[in-house]
Amino acid sequence: MDQPVLSRPSGPETHAATGAAETAVAREAARRRAFAIIAHPDAGKTTLTEKLLLRGGAIQLAGQVRAKGDRRRTRSDWMKIEQDRGISVATSVMTFERDGVVFNLLDTPGHEDFSEDTYRTLTAVDAAVMVIDAAKGIEAQTRKLFEVCRLRDIPIITFINKMDRESKDIFELLDEIEKTLALDVAPVAWPVGAGRSFVGTYDLLDPALHLMAEGSGPVRLSGLGDPKLDTLVKPDLARELRDGGELAGAYPDFDPARFLEGTMTPVYFGSALRDFGIGHLLEGLARFAPPPRDRAADSRTVTASEPELTGFVFKIQANMDPNHRDRVAFLRICSGRLQKGMRLRQTRTGKQVPVNAPLFFFAQDRQVAEEAWPGDVVGIANHGILRIGDTLTEKEALNFSGVPSFAPEILRRVMIEDAMVGKKLRTALEQLAEEGVVQLFRPLDGTPPVVGVVGALQLDVLAERLKAEYGVPSRYENTPWSLMRWVASEDAAALERFRRAIPHDVAEDHDGALVAFFSSDWRRNRAAEDFPELRFLEVREQHSLMTKAG
Ligand code: G4P
Repeated sequence: MDQPVLSRPSGPETHAATGAAETAVAREAARRRAFAIIAHPDAGKTTLTEKLLLRGGAIQLAGQVRAKGDRRRTRSDWMKIEQDRGISVATSVMTFERDGVVFNLLDTPGHEDFSEDTYRTLTAVDAAVMVIDAAKGIEAQTRKLFEVCRLRDIPIITFINKMDRESKDIFELLDEIEKTLALDVAPVAWPVGAGRSFVGTYDLLDPALHLMAEGSGPVRLSGLGDPKLDTLVKPDLARELRDGGELAGAYPDFDPARFLEGTMTPVYFGSALRDFGIGHLLEGLARFAPPPRDRAADSRTVTASEPELTGFVFKIQANMDPNHRDRVAFLRICSGRLQKGMRLRQTRTGKQVPVNAPLFFFAQDRQVAEEAWPGDVVGIANHGILRIGDTLTEKEALNFSGVPSFAPEILRRVMIEDAMVGKKLRTALEQLAEEGVVQLFRPLDGTPPVVGVVGALQLDVLAERLKAEYGVPSRYENTPWSLMRWVASEDAAALERFRRAIPHDVAEDHDGALVAFFSSDWRRNRAAEDFPELRFLEVREQHSLMTKAG
């Protein structure tokens, strides 16, 4: 790689303490890339992750990533669901370093049942790699995840995978991305051959041939006309590449500014299984993906290079290690330097949270970090003080916005046979709700708690965990509702009228905000017509102002 991958902060160094701290933060932030891989199941996300980790020097850990087959290690009882169904329930963070760049790969569960977790993870990245199966093109889940990235202006690098197999026509694929996603494509590589005759790619930005043949690095060329090309690949492939490369000129040139805005994607080609194209993709990530970006908070915008620490919790996971029954909050650092032993301010409560042993994650391993920087994700063990969406800072009382909750579509009552475990059930449900496993609602008429999930599989996870971790066997009872909305309004009298109108269909969520349940779209529309003073919200940002139920 002969491209400079890091933009070092420029300007005179200052000897003032703050200036020096800011420079160190800016320097460390500039070499970090926090990203996720988005893909439809089976497109090759797991294989690509393994190969990225291999490239990044985390060799001993690659192979543990795979969530399928018998290589999977049992971590706790409820993980059996993962094993049985061959899907990854838990989101993990993997850190690796290459050529001075620190990559933080935030793994998003691929199964659509867990989309809420995925959405939250996407709030913590600065870029995403979209993996597309060359034979299938854009699939349902790819599109869904892409839409979330678009909502958050997350720049996307496209990796067209499985080029070693029969694929769709390349132009057809590129046009499909452009049309279905309304995103301009800029191929930065061009495949040489396809299917069984796929031998490598041609770098359109810095003319060079990357060949699959083992051991050979890229061969620099002066351009497609370079006669060296004919000595490197068969004549028909050289001809095809020259034709294709020329036609590729019809696509717009790659424009880094448009990529950062999220309106253009650079396209790479390769085969994760054959470990081809991965180095080129990583080089692209290092070169084009943004270092930690500015983040909007309620009071102001936070810049990564600021010396004081800020960050937010986007995920909570309990019992990651059966030997330590702990809960780990995943903190995305947005600015400043985190040092072991710091005490951080939790904006929601004003309380001090000690960070005595921040954890770094390497696949399924963890290690205590001495320090961490913007773009990093650290785990903070705690006993339930930290919640999803919490902002932590050194001093300042600010709140990052944007960790969403989505209105669940499946609503069930949790029932127990043994009334003696009622209190245990409440505690368990509260803890699991804090972790984001389910959403929890307490009906205002005093009937048993209602849980809400986005996908049915979450219900299995909940039942399994209630039994395995809390010793509470439970069952679900259907409810008449298929919809739930948060109810917001400044008009207290209208809220009161609404509550009285449907006393058995209102509840409070985990944070005490008012919600309403509906049995159909028609009923919800009706409520909106009858109560024009109220807003019925499908998405709740963690800290947006909500109407209290009580
Ligand atoms: P996912 O995480 O996105 O669900 O996909 P995963 O990596 O598990 O890949 C899905 C299947 O596609 C796997 O085969 C994998 O080996 C295969 N695959 C991934 N990348 C490539 C590629 O570049 N070329 C080819 N030809 N195949 C690829 P499987 O048979 O379903 O699983 P397994 O038995 O290999 O684990």
